[in-house]
Amino acid sequence: MKLRYDYQYGFGNHFATECVPGALPVGQNNPQKCAYGLYAEQLSGTAFTAPRSANQRTWMYRVRPSVDHGAYQRVSFAERAPGLGFRGQIATPERLRWQPRDDAAPDRTADAADADTDTDFLRGLFRIGENGLPEDRNGLSIYSYWCNTSMDGEAFYNADGDLLILPQQGELVLQTELGMLEVPAGHVAVVPRGIRFAARVVPMSDTTSTSRGFVLEVYDRHFELPDLGPIGANGCAAPRDFRYPLAYVDRDTLQSSWRIWAKFQNQIFMYETDHSVFDVVAWHGNYAPFAYDLDRFCPVNAVRFDHMDPSIFTVLTCRSDEPGVALADFVIFPPRWNVQEHTFRPPYFHRNCMTEFMMNLAGEYDAKSAAGFPPGACSLHSIMSAHGPDLESFARAATEQLRPKRLPDSTLAAMFETSRMLRITKEALELLPLDRTYTSCWRDFPPATIPSS
Ligand SMILES: [Fe+2]
Repeated sequence: MKLRYDYQYGFGNHFATECVPGALPVGQNNPQKCAYGLYAEQLSGTAFTAPRSANQRTWMYRVRPSVDHGAYQRVSFAERAPGLGFRGQIATPERLRWQPRDDAAPDRTADAADADTDTDFLRGLFRIGENGLPEDRNGLSIYSYWCNTSMDGEAFYNADGDLLILPQQGELVLQTELGMLEVPAGHVAVVPRGIRFAARVVPMSDTTSTSRGFVLEVYDRHFELPDLGPIGANGCAAPRDFRYPLAYVDRDTLQSSWRIWAKFQNQIFMYETDHSVFDVVAWHGNYAPFAYDLDRFCPVNAVRFDHMDPSIFTVLTCRSDEPGVALADFVIFPPRWNVQEHTFRPPYFHRNCMTEFMMNLAGEYDAKSAAGFPPGACSLHSIMSAHGPDLESFARAATEQLRPKRLPDSTLAAMFETSRMLRITKEALELLPLDRTYTSCWRDFPPATIPSS
């Protein structure tokens, strides 16, 4: 896919970019007087004293300093983002599956009476489950989103943590303080804590501009590339494929009024400005939003028999305090060859010490029948709850002739995996299209026949 914006590349690089020549200071961060009368401002993504290998910060040179804005006003969820008001309350080990959020379904605004109004990204966020508290910088939330209109004259920032945004249908263009970032379906983006952005919806056709997908929010740390261990220096997600925005200023909107929405301790606040917050003429640093084309992922797996664990498909990880255990992993199941001999090739029957939130992004997933898990559907298999292939998929895979088989390019699934137990929102059970027949897909497995003695 041809991208419409230019980018700079390399995961975690220290970048330098300016959209007006001479705007970026040379040799220092904070000149007594910046070029053109710009204001220097640092955005810290880690503690000042974080180890150098983990330290993240960016210096911005902007038309007006961020501090120049009106007072924060607390806003009701219903007024601006009803789905952020849904809190995880329900503990259930049950295996859950939801069908895709549909254009016509009233769940999209979480307010049936409001179903005909336009829904932007912020209004369309719908919390499905959560763990922990942002005020403790500990935990995460999982959302789906549905939107059909762009944020206009408005921006949003999340003080509670990083947002990993995964479109399943349609394209988002994120106008961020650090530049423009397009995120079509099949790509993923991360907007780190505190960076203001507006999500714009790109029309899919003359008749529809809907966009939907999923969001993973982590309340501590940042996403990193996973270690590769014996795989070596190459394979999986290559650092050079991660793209970061170039400094970008829309001169036409610089002096207009903006409303900035903030999520802080899972509450919604708003302040107004008489100037755009997208006024960063130059920036340098390593704390920035980024995107990645999932088609660039180089999958690695067994080439003779059996399975590697799905961790082999990890794109990004957010670590916990325990080495080797993620607060959350972002994992994909990409198009690839399956070549294993004398092996049951789809995902195996499984009980896990982690929570698995699965999403079908495109095509048919190889462990579930197409009708039950279409693109846009998602499922939750919680800690120690048994899951695996459904009866139909099992029967097919256990008897098929094993030749090298290509999972087509039209397929893509993804998973948010977390070491935490999620509490589910009651709204996810009541308003999203819950598949109440899900667990029946595992009924009627014929018993094995064992010798009588
Ligand atoms: Fe699993």
